[in-house]
Amino acid sequence: MNYQDIFQALKGVGDIDLSSLVLLVAETGFALYPITCKSDCVDESIVDMLTKSRNINRDSFLTYFKATHERTLDWILGPVAKDSTRILFALKEIRTGKLYGYMGLAYGDAEGARIEGDAIVRFSDNVRPGLMRAAFLRLVEWVTNDIGVREVWVRVRSSNSAVKFYGQCGFLVEFEAPLYVVHGSFGNVEELSEAPLKGYSKISSDSLLYMKYCR
Ligand SMILES: CC(C)(COP(=O)(O)OP(=O)(O)OC[C@H]1O[C@@H](n2cnc3c(N)ncnc32)[C@H](O)[C@@H]1OP(=O)(O)O)[C@@H](O)C(=O)NCCC(=O)NCCS
Repeated sequence: MNYQDIFQALKGVGDIDLSSLVLLVAETGFALYPITCKSDCVDESIVDMLTKSRNINRDSFLTYFKATHERTLDWILGPVAKDSTRILFALKEIRTGKLYGYMGLAYGDAEGARIEGDAIVRFSDNVRPGLMRAAFLRLVEWVTNDIGVREVWVRVRSSNSAVKFYGQCGFLVEFEAPLYVVHGSFGNVEELSEAPLKGYSKISSDSLLYMKYCR
């Protein structure tokens, strides 16, 4: 089975169903649960977490928009379900089922040689220092050791404090790309793009760091 088939099976939309598999985060009482993309099984509390977290952390990402429950649900059932190189996991306390955060993998290449950590967000305000790091390292270990993907990368805005977090996880900056501010028709910032669009984008004070996992 290639990694794309495994991701689809974990999301509940593959030829076989592996959606009940969980990745335990050792000695924490927490585990990573694949977020199902099957229309009759979507967990509303997870949609709620994704929506709230996306709005709270708007400046962490490259695209600016107001997330809504409907938009998030459409994203899960559409792009996430269809993209076999992408998967999301909810980080939950095993005993209580309480949601702590989420994290994903995306933009994998066709051969399964390279993938990116994506959408790594703590949702809970009841902070447990080091838990996000332990969980993300569990995900990285799983995708490299068990699935066989060789390289894991993250792309992060230079102003984001997550740069330090990824450094603590063992990621090193390999290169840095400029970002361009793209405005919408009402003058609002729509996104930061790596490519200057239509010649009128201003360069951003933020750049994009490409960080590679080096164990
Ligand atoms: C990035 C993010 C997920 C990190 O979550 P977190 O809960 O702070 O992560 P962790 O607790 O696992 O690790 C980081 C902190 O815990 C500390 N820590 C780690 N292990 C520890 C331990 N065993 N004991 C005590 N402290 C520990 C680290 O030193 C660090 O603290 P510091 O930043 O004050 O120095 C979170 O800040 C977030 O959701 N950010 C917004 C979304 C975002 O920008 N995501 C990235 C997009 S690219």
